[in-house]
Amino acid sequence: MHSLVSQNPLRVPLEPPAPDEAVAAFHQRMPAYSTTPLFASPNLARRLGVKRVLVKAETQRMGLPSFKILGASWATYRAICDHLGYEPEPWHNINELAAALAHLKPFKLATATDGNHGRAVAFMARLLGFDCHIFVPRGMVEPRIQAIRREGALVTVVDGTYDDAVLRAAEEASTTCLVVSDTSWEGYEEIPARVIEGYSTIFNEIDDAIDATGLDRPDIVVIPMGVGAFMAAAVTHYRQQGESTMIIGVEPIDANCVQYSAQQGQLSEVPGPHNSIMVGLNCGLPSPIAWPRVSEGVDWFASVDDEAAKAAMRGLADVGIVAGETGAASLAGLEVVLGDEAWLQSVPDLAEATVLLVVTEGATDPDHYREVVGRGSETIGRVLTAVDANS
Ligand SMILES: Cc1ncc(COP(=O)(O)O)c(C=O)c1O
Repeated sequence: MHSLVSQNPLRVPLEPPAPDEAVAAFHQRMPAYSTTPLFASPNLARRLGVKRVLVKAETQRMGLPSFKILGASWATYRAICDHLGYEPEPWHNINELAAALAHLKPFKLATATDGNHGRAVAFMARLLGFDCHIFVPRGMVEPRIQAIRREGALVTVVDGTYDDAVLRAAEEASTTCLVVSDTSWEGYEEIPARVIEGYSTIFNEIDDAIDATGLDRPDIVVIPMGVGAFMAAAVTHYRQQGESTMIIGVEPIDANCVQYSAQQGQLSEVPGPHNSIMVGLNCGLPSPIAWPRVSEGVDWFASVDDEAAKAAMRGLADVGIVAGETGAASLAGLEVVLGDEAWLQSVPDLAEATVLLVVTEGATDPDHYREVVGRGSETIGRVLTAVDANS
């Protein structure tokens, strides 16, 4: 297997801004909102030689198979408020919000995606009764395209990489079309910043579950990285609590733009093609708005190959957790650092460490899941109990 582990040379002490409490209040008004489970897997902990492994499973979030709706929904809402020049309060549920926004129609949302973010934006557009246009890179597998179409969106396959699709989607912006991108570019920063804010709900839920049960907060947190927006949310959360939590970012080895940028000392591009099965992470350029926080707040980077991702999918299935290719990256990254001498020396008491893995998606390509794991995701039993299930 090919891998690359490195310590972040740009790491400095950080004091990120406090989170906006309006985010949680917004998510609670979304349909089918509920806290996703946090599992403790004694089997994984034993196998990996740590005290405890906690797994936050984002395999079902508001009816979608990834966490991305948290960022897409909040960013869409805030973008619409900015477009209107006011907040359409009071509203108590999505139907009331859609009714308050009906006068905007015909109105459209657009974005580029490598799968989950676009599906989430399409889902938001459908809930609000808006049109939607999603741009995807060449080579995206049919099940993921169909899932976006099923939300009622028009899908255009761009003849290029994810980064090319981002450029194409940006051209859609108009007085009747909001581009809700999770990556930023010059002059387009507000909405991607809201996407990062939206992800804060995951980390607040994790803290609540841990605090409700008296478990230790994690010593080591492992996060998959595409453009780094999700990681920026992780850094914001954990660095508000101090400097001691070790944060590890995981990328595919041929799209490790964050690790590469850190090594270069500045935001740098890893040219395509990016063909990893961890499609959510196939990005050649970090989001400029995520970069300062990510470059200063992450401790270690791990780049992994597809074989490592497949092994991690199977490893998570063995303990009862459905993780798609991208979702399994966090375990793949952990396995890789555990085999790295320099990393091992940086962790004084591994056997006493609590590790948090965020599994960011479920089986978004069910046929491929079956091929890799040897059985369908529907057969993976829930052998674990959520840590706060009894609280
Ligand atoms: C399932 C999943 N996990 C992680 C990520 C990485 O998030 P980001 O691009 O914000 O780094 C993505 C991005 O699309 C994703 O779809």
